Amino acid sequence: MNIFFNEQERVFRLDTPGSTYLIALADQAGFPAHMYYGRRIPDDNMRYLLRLNPNMPAFADSGDQLAYLGELPTEYPGHGLGDYRESCLRVETAQGYRACNLTYRSHEIYGGKPGLEGLPATRGGEEDCATLELVCADEALGLEVHLYYTAFEKLDAVCRSAKIVNRGGEALKLTAALSACLDMDNKDFDIITLHGSWAYERMIQRRKLGWGKQGASSTWGISSHQMQPFLALLEHDANQERGQVYAMNLVYSGNFLAQAEMTQQENVRAVIGIHPEGFGWKLNPGEAFQTPEAVLVYSSHGLEGMTHTFHDLYRKHLIREPWRNKPRPSLVNNWEATYFNFDKEKLLDIARTAAGRGIEMLVLDDGWFGCRDTDDNSLGDWVVNEKKLPGGLRYLAEQINAMGMKFGLWVEPEMVCPNSNLYRAHPDYALQVPGRKPMEARHQLVLDISRPEVRECVYTQLKAVLSSANIEYVKWDMNRTLTDVASFCLEADRQGELFHRYVLGVYEMQERLLADFPNLLLENCCSGGGRFDPGMLYYSPQIWTSDNTDAIDRLRIQEGTALIYPLSTMGAHVAACPSHTNGRVTPFETRGLVSLPGCFGYELDLTQLTEEELAMIPGQLENYKKYGSVFHDGDYYRIASYGENQEYDAVLAVSKDKKTAVLDYIHVMSRQRRRTVLLPLRGLDGETLYRSSETGEIRSGAAWMYGGMVMPRMTGDFTGKLIVLEAV
Ligand code: GLA
Repeated sequence: MNIFFNEQERVFRLDTPGSTYLIALADQAGFPAHMYYGRRIPDDNMRYLLRLNPNMPAFADSGDQLAYLGELPTEYPGHGLGDYRESCLRVETAQGYRACNLTYRSHEIYGGKPGLEGLPATRGGEEDCATLELVCADEALGLEVHLYYTAFEKLDAVCRSAKIVNRGGEALKLTAALSACLDMDNKDFDIITLHGSWAYERMIQRRKLGWGKQGASSTWGISSHQMQPFLALLEHDANQERGQVYAMNLVYSGNFLAQAEMTQQENVRAVIGIHPEGFGWKLNPGEAFQTPEAVLVYSSHGLEGMTHTFHDLYRKHLIREPWRNKPRPSLVNNWEATYFNFDKEKLLDIARTAAGRGIEMLVLDDGWFGCRDTDDNSLGDWVVNEKKLPGGLRYLAEQINAMGMKFGLWVEPEMVCPNSNLYRAHPDYALQVPGRKPMEARHQLVLDISRPEVRECVYTQLKAVLSSANIEYVKWDMNRTLTDVASFCLEADRQGELFHRYVLGVYEMQERLLADFPNLLLENCCSGGGRFDPGMLYYSPQIWTSDNTDAIDRLRIQEGTALIYPLSTMGAHVAACPSHTNGRVTPFETRGLVSLPGCFGYELDLTQLTEEELAMIPGQLENYKKYGSVFHDGDYYRIASYGENQEYDAVLAVSKDKKTAVLDYIHVMSRQRRRTVLLPLRGLDGETLYRSSETGEIRSGAAWMYGGMVMPRMTGDFTGKLIVLEAV
């Protein structure tokens, strides 16, 4: 067991291999106070770190209780009683009174980790982790709060969530219920967040932590293209390899707040959870509210340590079977090849070309149902368009299977077009504020997925489609953000629950889908990467990274994504040229190299490729077969960033046994250089000898790491090399 309670000290201790997390019960009252989080400390008498003002009398006798609560580092802050920093929990009584503060009641420590009802979360058995359930209460409100902390045995991760139960006799309203808080001294912190927009998701932003509140958030109804439910606080001089990093990531796919606040005493409060804006949850007596899970990661060896922990945690404890360790099939998707303009023959032509080169799956994207030849109709009518596809999906899938390929399908279950049979029959199924015409985006409205009958109606159609043919993969898309967030089925005082109920509805549908089709490979998508978050990864082991398929733009998008998420989760395809996103022309080979580390595929009309390009495909697929597992299951090292140096980019993956290392080098912008680029590698075994596939040289891991690897001279822009080091 790696969680302990020291009764004398009244201190809880959570240990992971490289970190310790300490919670103290402060004062007689037992405020759950945060004492320490950082490098692992063996000592058992750490209460001195609480640093309470020695002149401060006990809370109850103090004439200055406000100052006490205002300064106390707190595990799960309430509001209205002297703590003016961001609160995790805000509660309103039936009379409209607003105040809340928690004190300790009891606790339990047990092996393993309970699941969160209706919500995605990391999993762990008794051999993987232990959990502290700290039960606190606000007696005046009759409110009980269970704070869950799971500490992993082999990973420097602590997962937190809270369950809030109304034990009183009157209804209460939660107006904020965040997942975790971390109060710390400022260690000359920088803050990293990931920002972006459609087609430019997850750009890395690093800045000095300033006074006041800063961070990332979404109120779009999805985790969003614009921000990630993530923040990292790191020492100002920390880099990839060195320095302390504290990171938070929310296992959730809707509105969120991830915020760090530097306070008057130069302390830092970091919080993460559901965004309080637009949130209000009514708790009748006896009812409970479960927050999503926050993942806290600590690294004492730079960003790389943080990244490795997230990657290992998500690969082992979030992504589900049977795809957890399974190689992901290479695929060709017809979207950028044909858009809506295809028929059976065209698809079979693409499939034949693909099968002949060894591609493993054809994915039929948007346009196969209703009368959808343009994007202004038919979402909601999940019936195959037999004009385009005579014989239906069964016939198509059979033909494709006969070529030795799998068949996959695109759907967008959360949406409805006003021009659809579904909408004509049930206009109330769409989110809308009565008296207002709902906002359309891409000619579509959002279904009120919080309603069981709406989920049932869409899911029944979906199940029929997926049962009608051998469909082994589904791309679940979601192409607009939420507006008009009102439901016909919620009472006035429950409308604030809708954003969250929507997300719960999506989770329920995906859970049901995977229960009915347990071997299905699900890939989530949201106009590209608008819902690339750990919540979605719980259901789908891979996510379409971005609608931007230009190889050069992808370098930065994939770099930001891989800061948290394993390479095995990133859909990455070789797309047409000039790029449909930005018109850039890049060599076919380079496009292959940029896509290689992710879930590899093609997104172009294979029948239009030159002989020379077609001839490259088997080699690209062979690289994916041989080295895909090194990228997907190994350790990822960011060796060089084009985003930073404006010249070249280098990703290194090292197999867990350190026998194979693969360097994916992209020479982006040529410049005159007297000396070649020298890249010190990382992660190898210093004593092992490795042979380079590029030069045949044999050198020790130490030489490749500390001396470095000399890059071949390259001329021209947008070229690249894959260099493999094999232990000899
Ligand atoms: C979104 C997706 C694309 C494609 C289209 C189809 O934009 O991100 O990959 O599936 O929808 O309409």
